[in-house]
This record gives sequence, structure tokens and C-alpha cells, in this order.
Amino acid sequence: MRSKIVAGNWKMNKTLTETNTLLAELTGKLPDTDAEVMVAPTFVNLAAAVQDVKSSSIEVIAQNMHFAENGAYTGEISADMLLDIGVNTVIIGHSERRAYFGETDEILSKKIISALDKNLRVVFCFGEELEDRKSDNHFNVVSNQLKNGLFNLKPEAWTKIVLAYEPVWAIGTGETASPEQAQEMHSFIRKTIANEYTTKIAEAVSILYGGSVKPANAKEIFSKVDVDGGLIGGAALNADDFIAIIKAI
Ligand code: PGA
Repeated sequence: MRSKIVAGNWKMNKTLTETNTLLAELTGKLPDTDAEVMVAPTFVNLAAAVQDVKSSSIEVIAQNMHFAENGAYTGEISADMLLDIGVNTVIIGHSERRAYFGETDEILSKKIISALDKNLRVVFCFGEELEDRKSDNHFNVVSNQLKNGLFNLKPEAWTKIVLAYEPVWAIGTGETASPEQAQEMHSFIRKTIANEYTTKIAEAVSILYGGSVKPANAKEIFSKVDVDGGLIGGAALNADDFIAIIKAI
């Protein structure tokens, strides 16, 4: 059985004080669930966040990392730095990293390889833009992102991979892919992986949906057979909303 996961990507939000407050609320209200619950605060608050969730089942994860082991990369963060403070999972390839920080498939592939080398778990994000969907090119775009990011990996590496399908047109826009659109793409992703690797690997990988998941639509999206959870942006910044989404799974 593959893991159900609800992950909150806090992006560039929440000061240290706000981080402590939100995590106190989340740990206090966390429902009993089989799902893995993850939160990704900003780098500067990661170490404090790890301490905040120590006595709960919430996992603190990172929003990004650099591919180099260390060195002259001003402003960057390495895998070892994350591991050393107790962070064992990293988001790689978020569309905002691709769009605003020039992260290409080639850079992302290097990051994935470095993260896996260090035994970090990777939440790999990908998804088409609105024009791709309008021109009926979305399956093509997604299969290329999968191929460029992941298809050089050895089969064993897939136990450390979580996928997050995030159509760019649905991120932060209030617009959500319909549950049918999400299911259609998730099923395509699983088939693409099965063709490249094995059905066993494809069936074992968790595929999250991201893009304006809210308490009001979470249950319907999560009810789809190939949707194993969500990567949540805006709604993860409010404890009650995030808790409601966790309950929906
Ligand atoms: P959103 O962000 O939920 O605010 O649309 C999703 C994401 O970027 O992961």
C-alpha cells in the first residue's frame, strides 16, 4: 500500500514566531490519521520547526536544496545541512523554482541525484502551464518532465521518491484541476512510470496533487484512486484549513 501524504508548502511565509505558533496549533489539533503529514517552512526556521514537532508525527521538510555538496554557492543550502538539523525530505522542482529562479530540468536532475545520494527523500514537483493544456500538449510536457527528472534513476531509488503533480495554472490561482482532470493525469503518470520501469514501482509511488487544494475541494480530489494526497500552498498557512484537509484524506 502506498503512503497517503498531506504536505504543506509554506513558501516565503511565516516568521519564526509565526512558525512556532502555527506548529503549536497543528500539533495540538492533529487528528488521528494514517496519512503522513509534512510541513515545509522557510530554511531559516527549519531547525526551530524540527524542535517544535518533536513529540508529534509531523515531519518538517525543506522547500529546496543545492546540488553541490558544499562550497562557494552564496545563499544556497546543502543536503548535509538539512540532514544535520533533522530534515530528511526535500521538495525539488516546484514550479516557482522553475519559473522565477531558472531551475531547468537539468539542474533539477542534479538536485535529485544529490539528494538521493545523501538518502534524502524527494518530493518532485512538475506540471504543465495553461498554454500546454489549451494546446492539448499537457501529457507530453508531463512525460518529458518525468523523463528528464527521474528516468535516469535506478529502480531502487524510487522508494525515496514522492511525486507532486501541480498544474501551474492551478497554483495560487484559486483554480483547481477538476477531480477528473487530476485522476486522468495521475493515471497517465503511473502508466508512464510502469512503461519505463515496472508496474510494481508505478503502483508503489505516491502521487500528490497540488494547486488550490482547500478544505472545500480536498475530499473529492483525494477520493480519486490515483491521487494519494496533496501538496498544499495557501491553505497550509492556516491551522484549521490544513487540519480540515488532513481530515479529508
Ligand atoms: P496553492 O499552492 O495550494 O496555494 O495553489 C500549491 C503549491 O504551490 O504547492
